[in-house]
Amino acid sequence: MTSIKNHRHHLSTEEQSLRKGIILAGGRGSRLFPMTHVVSKQLIPIYDKPMVYYPLSVLMFAGIREILVIATPQDLPNFKALLGDGSQWGLEISYAPQPKPEGVAQAFLIAEEFLAGSPACLVLGDNLFHGRAIGTKFLKASREVEGATIFGYTAQNPQDYGVVEFDEDGRVISLEEKPAKPKSKYVVPGIYFYDAEVVEMVKKLEPSHRGELEITDLNRVYLEKGTLRVDLLGRGTTWLDTGTPDSLADATQFVQVLQKRQGLKIACLEEIAYIQGRIDRSQLEVQIEKYQNTEYGEYLETLLE
Ligand code: TTP
Repeated sequence: MTSIKNHRHHLSTEEQSLRKGIILAGGRGSRLFPMTHVVSKQLIPIYDKPMVYYPLSVLMFAGIREILVIATPQDLPNFKALLGDGSQWGLEISYAPQPKPEGVAQAFLIAEEFLAGSPACLVLGDNLFHGRAIGTKFLKASREVEGATIFGYTAQNPQDYGVVEFDEDGRVISLEEKPAKPKSKYVVPGIYFYDAEVVEMVKKLEPSHRGELEITDLNRVYLEKGTLRVDLLGRGTTWLDTGTPDSLADATQFVQVLQKRQGLKIACLEEIAYIQGRIDRSQLEVQIEKYQNTEYGEYLETLLE
């Protein structure tokens, strides 16, 4: 395999974001029952890694170092066992429980102390992103100081997501959560960047008819204030969610096919940490020790060449 050492791109000082990251990995995962009766959805594998690795890699691409993982109280110990304090990847990971799935926007109330007035990036624990734009667009969004940045992506089933409608000049005119009659084919993927006001904004939200603090309602507040940016992710970007048996199988196949073809891994956290200069060679070697006699370990070894 060709060495990738020439492609190391250490995060510059500007790229190292002071923004804090949140991975929301709670929920019931009921559409995956019986798979998820006793195991958290976000810990089951997508091909060769636990699902949570994928959103974690996205936060790394956004230049973020401090990360809060939110999961159900019963699953939290497993996330801690898997991810630890994050130092093996040059990260600082902490944990907080979400006792009941009371909405995606609730993440910011749970994270209030962790955020301590910092801007935030929230990523859903069951979303997978891949493509060149991830590095560039998410880094750019991460560096914005004011307002919010969300993304738009075409989907065949917009009625299952938050839908964003644009006017002829590309300005956002509406945002609707799971509308029966979607006004466009653009939906909002599970990654959201907010400024330091976000916690205060969420405190003012009312739960929806389904009893949840809705992320779409939060985005609408930013829209109404005129500080919401919606950046489109085009064909070159892959976004998959993994909430049903079929979409989970699709994601697994996607990762398997691409990794086999290219000989490069998607969301290999040690590799990303090394390429970005978050860990050095000796720290990578410690990780390689852990994975002796595994395919994953062999892959990591090629990074040292
Ligand atoms: P969903 O897929 O909408 O919900 P779920 O994971 O509970 O699954 P199901 O519908 O099959 O019961 O949630 C999207 C992501 O957000 C997923 O990673 C779980 C997470 N989530 C929470 O952690 N807490 C919440 O309150 C909500 C609504 C979602």
